[in-house]
Formats: sequence, C-alpha cells, structure tokens
Amino acid sequence: MDAPIDDPPRGGGPDGEFDTGVFAADIDPAHPVPADTPWGTVALYALEGEVRAFEAFCPHMLGPLFAGSIADGVVTCPWHAWRYSLDDGTRVDDERPAEGPEARPLKRFGVRTSPRGTVVVLERPGDAGP
Ligand code: FES
Repeated sequence: MDAPIDDPPRGGGPDGEFDTGVFAADIDPAHPVPADTPWGTVALYALEGEVRAFEAFCPHMLGPLFAGSIADGVVTCPWHAWRYSLDDGTRVDDERPAEGPEARPLKRFGVRTSPRGTVVVLERPGDAGP
C-alpha cells in the first residue's frame, strides 16, 4: 500500500521531503536530535514550541552543533564556542571574524509534522525566523 502524500516514507518522499522518523514530542529542548537526510545531517531543535532544523555540523571545523549548549535561542559549538542564532542561523559571537567562508550562517531547513507526529524535513529553506 502506498503511503499518503502527506506522510512520506522514511528515506524520502515527494517534492524534496524526508521523514526523519523522529517524533517531535520526543525532542528535548536541551538536546537536539541529529537526523541523517538526503541533504546531509540535520539537527532538530525544539524551541519555543516548534521544531527547527539546521545543518548539524559547525561551518568552522565541523564540530557537532547538536552536542552544543543552548540558551536564549542560541547554540554554542562544543569545540571552539562559536555561537549561532537558532532563528536564522547567523553567527552572534561578534568578537570573531565576520567575513570569509567560516562566517556563513547555518543552513536552515523547512520542517513540518507528519500525521503520525514525526518530523519531516524539507529540502527548501525554512523560514527566516518566527
Ligand atoms: S568547530 Fe565549531 S567553533 Fe570550531
């Protein structure tokens, strides 16, 4: 039996969607969940009552941002403490260089919740912020 269009199978679905199999209700706000997608590993954050998805590894030296600390809508990389906004992915540690390839913002992905409550990551970018 084919899955309904609004409940894509894990492993990819129509229109650049991927069901992570992670239940939104299970994401601890203090511990983002990494999920492998066709577009790379994405970190799923529970923030202000919604799920947000950003690339999971730090643009600096690929530190695991999903293992970083979260406070006031900002994730701090566990390796060298660069800080990124979880609204739009921009760096907020202004004492560091603001130019160059390492200064780019984190890529944000769109998300929606499937009918069974799992997080579906969208290939297209997410909203710029709440
Ligand atoms: S790898 Fe994230 S700050 Fe260096």
